[in-house]
Amino acid sequence: MKSLEGKIAIITGGSGGIGSTICERLAQDGAKVVVHYGGHQDAADHVVTTIKDKGGEAVPIQANLSKVEDVVSLFDQTQQHFGTPDIVVNNAGTGVGGPIAETEEDAFDKVFGLNRKGTFFSMREAARRLNKNGRIVNISSGLVVRPKAGFSLYVGSKAAVELMGKVLAMELGERGITVNTVSPGPTETEMFAHSGDDPTAAAAQSPFNRLGKPEDIADVIAFVVSDQCRWITGHTFQAGGGYV
Ligand SMILES: NC(=O)c1ccc[n+]([C@@H]2O[C@H](COP(=O)([O-])OP(=O)(O)OC[C@H]3O[C@@H](n4cnc5c(N)ncnc54)[C@H](OP(=O)(O)O)[C@@H]3O)[C@@H](O)[C@H]2O)c1
Repeated sequence: MKSLEGKIAIITGGSGGIGSTICERLAQDGAKVVVHYGGHQDAADHVVTTIKDKGGEAVPIQANLSKVEDVVSLFDQTQQHFGTPDIVVNNAGTGVGGPIAETEEDAFDKVFGLNRKGTFFSMREAARRLNKNGRIVNISSGLVVRPKAGFSLYVGSKAAVELMGKVLAMELGERGITVNTVSPGPTETEMFAHSGDDPTAAAAQSPFNRLGKPEDIADVIAFVVSDQCRWITGHTFQAGGGYV
């Protein structure tokens, strides 16, 4: 029997670079997967097709996670399609770089609207609905412990996510639910490509002298959502190849 057989998993941002790989990895372990997407239905459909071609089960569901009613709808649709979720990976995220002195209100609202508000209300819905012994994983960033100029909104929103997750871990322990954070370092995705970071310099920050691959992160998530990780909660896993 596969390790996640019978489990239902919601992966937010399942249409993105890291999220799509997490979807495929958890499906490989036997989970039925909700491939959430924001705007890129084609990307989400591709992930669903890949999973089904390998004999797995998956469905694409759209939601603008900056809107609370969309977050609630994502969980409602999951319930209707597969049943009560066991695993929620809050992976969807965005970053708008630039010095604080040049930052406008719309950038603040965009980054905090998704990374902090969206993740918070997804955690709220997960807290209300998740099965006993469930798993909540929030995706942060190694930049929280190794901040850089120009990333104030991104780092600030991710730091909030890490701390909110620690609080939720204390609130959900009696149901056997764990709440953990996984923090990637620089990882080869569209987001990294648009970050303006120099890939060679970013790779050199790891003792392995390479960028992370989405598979490196997905393998860590697969462990964190497994039964093997039942005794770890409120923890942040640095998945940056020694970046921090
Ligand atoms: N790549 C890195 O170097 C790196 C490093 C550290 C941490 N991270 C974190 O890892 C996570 C995944 O990053 P990634 O590199 O895979 O990013 P990505 O390829 O840009 O994917 C971002 C995902 O978020 C979704 N999304 C964006 N805005 C949304 C909104 N308002 N509502 C709903 N969904 C929305 C996108 O959906 P659509 O495309 O369908 O709109 C997409 O699936 C993020 O939380 C990121 O902060 C990444």
